[in-house]
Amino acid sequence: MKKRVAVFISGRGSNFHSIIEHPKNVGCHYEVVLCVTNNLAALGLQYANDNGIPVEVYSEDTIHQILNNYKVELVALAGFMKILTPEFCNQWEGKILNIHPSLLPNYSGLNTHKRVLENNEKEHGLSIHFVDAGVDTGPIIFQTRVNIEDIENEEVLANLILFYENWFYPLILDVVAEGRIYLKEGRVYNCEKMLENPYTFIVD
Ligand code: GRF
Repeated sequence: MKKRVAVFISGRGSNFHSIIEHPKNVGCHYEVVLCVTNNLAALGLQYANDNGIPVEVYSEDTIHQILNNYKVELVALAGFMKILTPEFCNQWEGKILNIHPSLLPNYSGLNTHKRVLENNEKEHGLSIHFVDAGVDTGPIIFQTRVNIEDIENEEVLANLILFYENWFYPLILDVVAEGRIYLKEGRVYNCEKMLENPYTFIVD
């Protein structure tokens, strides 16, 4: 049985798009059954429209019920610009993933690419993590680490990181949907093995 996924978006939706496309090409353990947004002008809603995926508007009071109505089993946050309540995060513990454009715990929050360049960092990347009640703090499953010494500007950097985001988010969502990767007592496991460090893809 495929896991029923809801994707939460607020904007462009490139990760939403890649999450929708992935199951079309390969055997996959999830299906996208719902898009949730706090922004009805979000560009990414076109992908819901194109693929016949229903859209619901986010509200703190009804979100749990909405997800239950669609029998959602997993949530993927993909550029969702609202902070979820601690109650919701706890209720859905181990069932919400987020993607963040930095090497967490470094550069949580907004404008990561700009701040990374301002600080002349040599390395940058992305993190895919389980969501807990904090902001960008949950247990990390996977990171892409990119050598950025030759990157000339923010736009190039943002596009480079986004390329890897779009590539890896569906893959990680897939292994979580499969049940291979899961959260137990605040730690990430692969089958029976606890991860000491996030899985890492290095781009040098
Ligand atoms: C991505 O960089 C994601 O990591 C961050 O917000 C951005 C969303 O981009 N959380 P998109 O809407 O998926 O194109």
